[in-house]
Amino acid sequence: MAADIRKIVLAYSGGLDTSVILPWLKDTYGCKVIAFVADLGQGRGELAGIETKALASGADKCVVADLRREFAEQYCFKMLAAGAVYEQVYLMGTAIARPLIAKAQVACALREKADAVAHGATGKGNDQVRFELTYMALAPHLAILAPWKDPRFKLTSREAALAYAKARRIPVAATKKSAYSRDRNLWHIAHEGADLENPLNEPTDSLWLMSVPLAKAPSRPRYVTVGFKSGVPRSVDGTRLPGHELVAALNAIGGKHAVGQVDLVENRLVGIKSRGVYETPGGTILYEAHRALEALVLDRETMHYKQLVAQKYAEVVYYGQWFSPLREALDAFVASTQRQVTGTVRVKCFKGHATVAGVCSPYSLYSGKLASFTMGKGYTPSDASGFIKLFGLQMRGRGRD
Ligand code: ARG
Repeated sequence: MAADIRKIVLAYSGGLDTSVILPWLKDTYGCKVIAFVADLGQGRGELAGIETKALASGADKCVVADLRREFAEQYCFKMLAAGAVYEQVYLMGTAIARPLIAKAQVACALREKADAVAHGATGKGNDQVRFELTYMALAPHLAILAPWKDPRFKLTSREAALAYAKARRIPVAATKKSAYSRDRNLWHIAHEGADLENPLNEPTDSLWLMSVPLAKAPSRPRYVTVGFKSGVPRSVDGTRLPGHELVAALNAIGGKHAVGQVDLVENRLVGIKSRGVYETPGGTILYEAHRALEALVLDRETMHYKQLVAQKYAEVVYYGQWFSPLREALDAFVASTQRQVTGTVRVKCFKGHATVAGVCSPYSLYSGKLASFTMGKGYTPSDASGFIKLFGLQMRGRGRD
């Protein structure tokens, strides 16, 4: 098998795991390895000097792709329009990123005429599934290498990985590495592991990176206005922004007020329950705003049916089935519901909450006249008597005098 592989494109993050996987792949397969880096807005902390680092770790080439705008507009915003949330609270910042990373990695592999793609996800998590399903959907002929699942790979402990890196003079950040396993991008940051592995432990204040601890949230609220056009967020406080900048602006606002902090014991696809703590400040503002706008413009039947779609959409994203006919079909339904989801929403960020403080739309179905307690035209209360009689027929049938 090893003899067949001549060039590998590795999804490379610059962290310890992929830094040792890179030379391990070269040693094991004796072939060229290209480090592929996806910029999804994880920030300079992770991206600065990454090319130098990849080359120093033995990469034959390093390719960095700026995917921030595509990530926000073609992935996060689609998920937002669907209203997809996994297990009530997780806004899926990690899950939604994987298909895009893998898609761009595959494109790189095809350009470079590589015959294999590799990733550094472990054999216990969701990410391995998300990467590999995408590889399979887009380029089934490529070999998939996942060293963590290869019995020959012995670097699965931090100590072993550090020793290997040292022996080969591979640069690994000298900074005291945090105990947490983290995944950061434009949409969120996920924290797992260490003290969080015990669900009895509350996240410590020092854990939060994109937002302040709740106790440090200011005592004055910040109101922010988000403009939507056909279900897509377009502006913040009246300024039109491209998707990635819009999310970044809302992250800054929400983060200051501890908005979007979530602590969840979740069901992984592989059957394990795991504990994750998430920060999604901008995303939380957007979900709240979008929901309020839909409440104003969607008719009841569409809105209720869309809740079923949202639930399924969340599973599709969480399970890594982005490149599937089902996701495309769900998107078509969602797009049809979003035609009139246009308007502006005022959101109050305050003490960990993003609360809708006002909403308006040219397509509003809300009629003050109809809803008002004072009688008016267009609704004849006596009609309601006949309606209730028939609607309640079964109640009478079963009820007793
Ligand atoms: N549990 C979340 C998910 O599956 C987050 C995973 C975070 N990944 C990580 N390498 N820390 O989407």
